[in-house]
Amino acid sequence: MATDQTMHVPPSLSARVVGSFAYLTVRDRLPTILTKVVDTIHRNKNKFFEEYGEVGIQAEKQAISLLSKLRNELQTDKPVLALTDGLPDTDSWNQYLERQQRLQGDQEPVSWFKSPWLYVECYMYRRIHEALLLNPPISDFDVFNEGKTQSFTESSQAVMSLCTYLEGIKNNIDELSKNSLFEHFSKLMQGSLWGNKCDLSISAGQENSQKTSPLDSLYSLLPFILVDDTKRVWSALISAQRPRESGKTTADRVDIVLDNAGFELVTDLVLADFLVSSGLARQIHFHGKSIPWFVSDVTAKDFQWTIQQAMATNHKWVSKCGVQWQRYLKEGMWCYHDHPFWTQPHEFCDMAADAPDLYTTLQGADLVLFKGDLNYRKLTGDRDWEHTVSFETALRGFGPAPLCSLRTLKANIQVGLQPGQGEKLTSQDPSWMTSGKYAVIQFHNPKSE
Ligand code: F6P
Ligand code: MG
Repeated sequence: MATDQTMHVPPSLSARVVGSFAYLTVRDRLPTILTKVVDTIHRNKNKFFEEYGEVGIQAEKQAISLLSKLRNELQTDKPVLALTDGLPDTDSWNQYLERQQRLQGDQEPVSWFKSPWLYVECYMYRRIHEALLLNPPISDFDVFNEGKTQSFTESSQAVMSLCTYLEGIKNNIDELSKNSLFEHFSKLMQGSLWGNKCDLSISAGQENSQKTSPLDSLYSLLPFILVDDTKRVWSALISAQRPRESGKTTADRVDIVLDNAGFELVTDLVLADFLVSSGLARQIHFHGKSIPWFVSDVTAKDFQWTIQQAMATNHKWVSKCGVQWQRYLKEGMWCYHDHPFWTQPHEFCDMAADAPDLYTTLQGADLVLFKGDLNYRKLTGDRDWEHTVSFETALRGFGPAPLCSLRTLKANIQVGLQPGQGEKLTSQDPSWMTSGKYAVIQFHNPKSE
């Protein structure tokens, strides 16, 4: 593949471009999210008092004051400040700030409207975490928890129908032909894809749950999938099949880099269950976030909570799924990891150098599924690529294993389209890249290059 010297690498998206989606996000959506965070902490004042007495109230006040200061820095385009909380990743964040400053030159400081959007948006969530962390005893309070649990509860109909569908397939899964297995695989990949519509960051925390089963609408949604590499993903899984100790012939491992909690997580768990119970994969490794992130992203607590909720649901198939998922975890067929790199601002092409242990972990997978928009932005470096540039070029050498992005479009970046496809979409629907209405299932296999 072309090296950076021979390949033109476009600039990062930035709020510097007035009127761009990045600009509108930094100007409007991020301050709205911060206001809601302040509001949530304030509404929980009594709870903090009951749990910790006067110290809890002091912590609430201090955290709110740090967050109000943060909102002011953002809105007045102040320089991005170094972190002071002394967490294991603090140095790495501060080094990244220096790196941005070097890239930007010393004419102007790294700041909210002038620096890469990906960086400042990630930084905001890390500063929210800092504001709580510096204020024990409320350091562990997840300011986004209410929205995430609500999104799960309000999607109960859709959850029931997905779990019922899954249990229906599992009834006679060993007798299914390769073709029907592929049909179910394709459907559940699309379920997981459209599950990504339900994130709470794009709606600035506004309720965004799934009321009906996405499986009923898959056919009518097909025209909105701009790139569909499902068959290539399937071939990668099939070509990784080997006889295992269990006597079954399966691929060894599929990794899922998770995105949002709530309904989207259920669609991912259902897909993971299908992969294991159909014998397509021996084990699934889930990767979540180690701190509350981009409003609705999955943390270890959300992951466990969702499985517990499913188990306790008064619906035969949902609770059966929950029990099964718990068993997979207990028996090691499923495992959950979080690595600090997922909550850092790096483009994924930096992973091999900046988080070599994580890169090595992913190299052990037969397939890595990257869920959601933010992962797509990191895969492609959140850069202003032409739409016809190939996915491989935009990945800039990132390829620990065969990988696939399942993403609904919520940021103005999209590569790997046919000539003229982007222009046509722009003329038909100017907001096609940011509305969440369109999606891609985009695959790259570094092994076949
Ligand atoms: O600005 C909207 C936004 O915060 C994007 O920055 C981000 O890519 C997206 O929402 C989050 O979407 P997802 O949950 O699919 O990663
Ligand atoms: Mg998200």
